Amino acid sequence: MNQNDNNPGTNDVAVKDRLLSTARAAGEKAYAPYSHYHVGAAVLTEDGEIVSGCNVENASYGLTNCAERTAIFKAVSSGARKIRAIAIAGPEGGSPAYPCGACRQVIAEFADTADIPIYVSTGSDSFEAYTLAELLPKGFVL
Ligand code: THU
Repeated sequence: MNQNDNNPGTNDVAVKDRLLSTARAAGEKAYAPYSHYHVGAAVLTEDGEIVSGCNVENASYGLTNCAERTAIFKAVSSGARKIRAIAIAGPEGGSPAYPCGACRQVIAEFADTADIPIYVSTGSDSFEAYTLAELLPKGFVL
């Protein structure tokens, strides 16, 4: 397990557990009739709120929205402007649902700092932790 949890406040065990359990539960809401790959995500906003999301697929496959972006867009459209952590949960028993490249760039857009934790569920009671900087080194900035 990679434990790069160096962001005080978001590493609170209770917050981490809530993020992971919210992400796992959100996967049950996934709309994934094409891939059948259900993903859930949960973000912690600057206000300490937890916002969930799931993947939403489309018959025109490229229009699919990943769980991470659904959660972030829900949070931002509710007024949040910064996220302090994100958790992602794919189907249990498969390989961990690491965020895709597009989602990493969207996480970077709203991340409080480059050190925010990204928790990836690896089972009902296990996870891996990374920082955004680890998963997206030298991301695009304007
Ligand atoms: N997916 C996510 O929701 N998040 C990821 O990090 C990777 C992929 C979704 C998109 C699509 O609905 C399904 O998983 C298969 O690619």
